[in-house]
Amino acid sequence: MSNRFYITTPIYYVNDLPHIGHAYTTIASDVLARYHRMRGEEVRFLMGVDENAQKNVESALKNAVIVSKAKQSHTMAKRSPRPFGVRDDGSVRDIVQKYVDEMAAKWKMTWDELDISNDDFIRTTEPRHVKYVKKFWGMVKKGDIYKGQYEGLYCVGCESYKTEADLVDGKCPEHNRVPEKLSEENYFFKLSAYRDKLLAHIKKHPEFIQPETRRNEVAAYIRDHAQDFSISRKNLEWGIPVPGDPTQTIYVWFDALLNYISANPKWWPADLHLVGKDIIKFHCAYWPAMLMSAGMKLPRTVFAHGFFTVDGQKMSKTLGNVVDPVALAKKYGNDVLRYYVLREIPFGEDGDFSEERLRQRYNGELANGLGNLVARVLTMLEKYAEGRIPPRHKEPPKHFHVWSRYEDAIASLQFDRALEEIWHFMGELDTFIDKEQPWKLAKGDKDKLFAVLYVLAESLRHIGWLLLPFMPVTSQSIFEQLGVGKAELRRPLKEGQSWGVLVPGVKIKKGNALFPRL
Ligand code: MSP
Repeated sequence: MSNRFYITTPIYYVNDLPHIGHAYTTIASDVLARYHRMRGEEVRFLMGVDENAQKNVESALKNAVIVSKAKQSHTMAKRSPRPFGVRDDGSVRDIVQKYVDEMAAKWKMTWDELDISNDDFIRTTEPRHVKYVKKFWGMVKKGDIYKGQYEGLYCVGCESYKTEADLVDGKCPEHNRVPEKLSEENYFFKLSAYRDKLLAHIKKHPEFIQPETRRNEVAAYIRDHAQDFSISRKNLEWGIPVPGDPTQTIYVWFDALLNYISANPKWWPADLHLVGKDIIKFHCAYWPAMLMSAGMKLPRTVFAHGFFTVDGQKMSKTLGNVVDPVALAKKYGNDVLRYYVLREIPFGEDGDFSEERLRQRYNGELANGLGNLVARVLTMLEKYAEGRIPPRHKEPPKHFHVWSRYEDAIASLQFDRALEEIWHFMGELDTFIDKEQPWKLAKGDKDKLFAVLYVLAESLRHIGWLLLPFMPVTSQSIFEQLGVGKAELRRPLKEGQSWGVLVPGVKIKKGNALFPRL
């Protein structure tokens, strides 16, 4: 096992605020980052924002018009109309820069509020990135970049070139808008030259594209459709200029993908790019071909998860059902949000988000399940063992398999299964309590009573560890209540995973209910 783990999320567009879909990818990545840190690995968790896109420019200008209209009506000043988006106090570039600065700060703040443990946050307007993108342009194999005439369609919503076959009633089905017709001289990248190499790589490295259904989808795309694609746009006011040709701007994907290296080349190659299924073509066809052309290593795995709807409907501004992850986390707690999204939807599949389901899982699995078990054990320790850890019982509970099952599940990114294993273990503890009936043992067999209580307390300590990547606040609270506090986290995992770590005599600190019923 390698001792380093480099994981990335997509860098999100700043044309709007983060919603629950972005939080989903981010939370899943955060769980993995925390899991690998817990295992003592050296982890790099990179996130960031994609600032050079045309869709950001559109939003910036729209926003500027709104702001300037608001100002006008506020001051009641009569001014002559000015062209769309251009304010009297700045050029388009200034307006967009100001906008992306503000939006990047808001995205960053969202991840802080959700307590995401990223090690770095890259903005593609930063010099480290711009410099690397220009350098990479020169690293691509001679002949792989060539000039040609692009005649076709472009959807700014997708930031992607389209063919007639991609459209429904002449519109991009994703964004319900008519794509622009482009006819301009562009630079192209020779993707077609990499078809066979890409297919061979996919075949030889089944771990490269996960899950398997996506692998087949991408392989079919490469085999049947992968053509050279345009990697520049003409006369744009925003974006990274093509080295040596300032009339052309580098196509946003040919720029954005490079964030994974530009942030810190020393970490490349990544172990895992976590992305939504919408952007798999860019990550599993364009990106590896670009890397092959530049003679660089490929990422080990790209995992594409599914999309979710909200209460059965596509999330959209028009429908007004866009879910704000921060509002949810404020209402229920970060840990609850993390638990719900990863428990509800098998990772990789599409699913549905519903606050009603979240509340059901909260009451059923968090309040009645986890919260109740912790309270039950601590109450018994208070009542029957003077609020202290009883003498050590050397044997773990029967069928103590939870760790290996949990580790297997996380290794294949089956978060729902990993959580299920923890809850299954908790179910066994409940059964154990009902069978041993400590309240009866308290009247006679003290040795047996202490043995039972020690097993329960020590099992809770294991649950604290198992939950750590998923629900870090809850996990901390379990350690506090068991009287071991933060010191527990300074242990190497190997030690934390072993049996009989709790020291007899240590005072417990029963706290408030972990999850008060809603
Ligand atoms: N900027 C590009 C990515 C460049 S990476 C080099 C981009 N940005 S995005 O803001 O549109 O984010 C797309 C990602 O957001 C998806 O891949 C997915 O991770 C997440 N999701 C957006 N909507 C989602 C759902 N409805 N459901 C689940 N994830 C969703 O594409």
